Amino acid sequence: MNNIVLIGFMGCGKSSVGLRYAQMQGIEFVDTDQLIVEKQGRSINEIFATDGEKVFRKMETDCLKELLAQKNKSFVLSVGGGVPIREENRKLLKQIGTVIFLKASPNVIFRRLRNDKTRPLLQNENPRGRIMDLMSSRKQFYEAAADYVLDVDGKNFDEILTEIGDIIKAENN
Ligand code: S3P
Repeated sequence: MNNIVLIGFMGCGKSSVGLRYAQMQGIEFVDTDQLIVEKQGRSINEIFATDGEKVFRKMETDCLKELLAQKNKSFVLSVGGGVPIREENRKLLKQIGTVIFLKASPNVIFRRLRNDKTRPLLQNENPRGRIMDLMSSRKQFYEAAADYVLDVDGKNFDEILTEIGDIIKAENN
């Protein structure tokens, strides 16, 4: 089986859906943020505060390169919302596996993340505006990186899992 890569904006459900789908398939789940936090021994907030976003983006690319080198094992990968911005990353994602974009609207994201303190990019007085700005500048990159786009608005967890299963089934036929 080809690996599955989930991309999309912060709060679109990549990690929770990815973890569940991996459990259902009996394969490993990996998440770039988790790998970076483990390797660094620091939270994403701390990395942004001490080293800045640029250094964090380099860590993400290094992480993808390491995962590509492990292509012999099957996994579901969830990547941070900013990963598809870099062209180099988009190429790496495609090499790693089948890329599915979990697409959620800014309103849904805002409702989910309005009290979140773990996303450094949203810690300002106008998180709704920030979400809308980031989303409109990133949309093109998510679409360019994706093999499939899955609209998640209004869908429950099980429906999303079923749709991922359908995509993968159709691809393997
Ligand atoms: C980011 C998304 C976060 C995390 C970091 C930056 C982004 O991951 O990598 O806070 O630039 O969109 P999630 O998408 O898992 O929240």
